[in-house]
Amino acid sequence: MQVHIIDHPLIQHKLSLIRDVKTGPKEFRELLEEVAMLMAYELTRNLPLEETEVETPVAKCRCKMLAGKKLGVVPILRAGLGMVNGVLRLIPAAKVGHMGVYRNPETLQPVEYYCKLPTDVAERDFIIIDPMLATGGSSKATIDMLKARGAKSIKLMCLVAAPEGVQVVNASHPDVEIYTAAVDEKLNDHGYIVPGLGDAGDRIFGTK
Ligand code: URA
Repeated sequence: MQVHIIDHPLIQHKLSLIRDVKTGPKEFRELLEEVAMLMAYELTRNLPLEETEVETPVAKCRCKMLAGKKLGVVPILRAGLGMVNGVLRLIPAAKVGHMGVYRNPETLQPVEYYCKLPTDVAERDFIIIDPMLATGGSSKATIDMLKARGAKSIKLMCLVAAPEGVQVVNASHPDVEIYTAAVDEKLNDHGYIVPGLGDAGDRIFGTK
């Protein structure tokens, strides 16, 4: 399985607070943004560096800076929006695309209803943000779509994953590494992750 469980104590602590049914939307959003920032730190661990010259108040020195790799972040609507700002706080130069997918209730197949991406998809490394990797349908559809437009390097950032979703993404896109704070027990009959945290979009936007 290409799944990295990020078990940093701060992330695990914040995830437990996020899961708590008593946590209201304001705190939920703040915690989610903080976790996204901490996860972005892990996802960007292998970004290439290049040497440059910097003049400190004391002397000139050779220092390392990011080698100008072009990054793209694609939150899947709507819950993905809750993690974007945390990621952008660490990598502000990343371009942000948006992807909207719903599940056709008859065919159960994902249907794209919104897609707006940077123009140079083929030149960017992408982080797709899908906080709840449940059935895996939306993530798979988004990866399919990015690859169809030429993307070659994609990572998937989740908060909580179900084994079923991990399996679907792994089977269809084994090159896409999944980063999550937890892989939970299962999906229930309504497609919710158990124990999960409920509907992430509703909890972010207070729509329940
Ligand atoms: N989407 C959510 O927001 N929560 C789940 O448990 C599954 C999908």
